[in-house]
Amino acid sequence: MSKVRPTIATLVLAATAALIAALVVAAGPAGAEQSTAQATEDALPDAPVLNIGHRGASGYAPEHTFASYDLAVKLGADYIEQDLQLTKDGVLVVMHDKTLNRTATAPEGVPARYCRGPVSNRTLEQIKQCDVGSWFNEEYPEYAKPRYVGLKIPTLEQVFKRYGKEVNYYIETKNPDAAPGMERKLLRLMRKYELIRPAARDWQVLIQSFSPESLQKIHRLKPSLPLIQLYFAGSSKTVRTDLGAARAYAVGIGPDQQDVDARLISAAHRRCLAVHPYTVNEKPDMRTLISLGVDGMFTNFPNRLDNVLGTRAADDAMVAARQSAEAYRACRGG
Ligand code: G3P
Ligand code: CA
Repeated sequence: MSKVRPTIATLVLAATAALIAALVVAAGPAGAEQSTAQATEDALPDAPVLNIGHRGASGYAPEHTFASYDLAVKLGADYIEQDLQLTKDGVLVVMHDKTLNRTATAPEGVPARYCRGPVSNRTLEQIKQCDVGSWFNEEYPEYAKPRYVGLKIPTLEQVFKRYGKEVNYYIETKNPDAAPGMERKLLRLMRKYELIRPAARDWQVLIQSFSPESLQKIHRLKPSLPLIQLYFAGSSKTVRTDLGAARAYAVGIGPDQQDVDARLISAAHRRCLAVHPYTVNEKPDMRTLISLGVDGMFTNFPNRLDNVLGTRAADDAMVAARQSAEAYRACRGG
């Protein structure tokens, strides 16, 4: 992207005004003065709205392939997302589902069983023979491309090798209970590719999970790493109930977009937690969430969010990530 991004203050002012208005309505005239003061001091300091390419640009290309990640970066994503699975022989690969069934097919000559069942039952050598592009062409003919046929499942190491420090990563430990050692393997690879420090200092890597145990394990191993607690769809209230606990190890939360309201954002920001809802694919929803004050969002269509943000879209993904880290630190008192 090559946009000049004016100050984010406009966005924050609009979001703050919307939040104040909502609080004033909720509190009634008697509570107006107190609500205004609270809303003003609740907000995280200035930071851009992060554009997170969900499984890459998975609306346009086969999820978790280099084609999808490359396109996400091209379409304005500030982060590319990876879901992690562990093979039978202990290699971290990027794939959303626990099983190969939905996205993998066996090319001619490859035993069908290599591309069926749980990833954890297959070796890297086996799953490397699967095609994870063809399903997309069949499912989404409007975006189908001959070059997607035969795309392979990348290992996390291949992802780090390909993009190095040129992109920001948003990595999820998936099914960590069934994949003992996943966290240590992730940290080992981050260390090998010198991503620990840029993650801690500049949020070049954000680590997310639905599993608090997995995040707490990482927090114990490396307390400086920025972690995002994900929540399955529930309600604003169920997420709010957990924020005090999440704050002890996480820098932010990833709620289902349906659960995001002004009260959740206010409660999260009061605890200095960034709010990155998933998975937001429609422009009106993007606009609503931005006006509520979210700090980023996952989308299968990074260009749509880029378009909605317009001149407020981050000019430089690295700077955007760093500004988010700085806003968090400022909120937590340095
Ligand atoms: O990680 C945020 C979002 O991706 C969570 O949902 O199922 O797509 O991993 P899922
Ligand atoms: Ca995910």
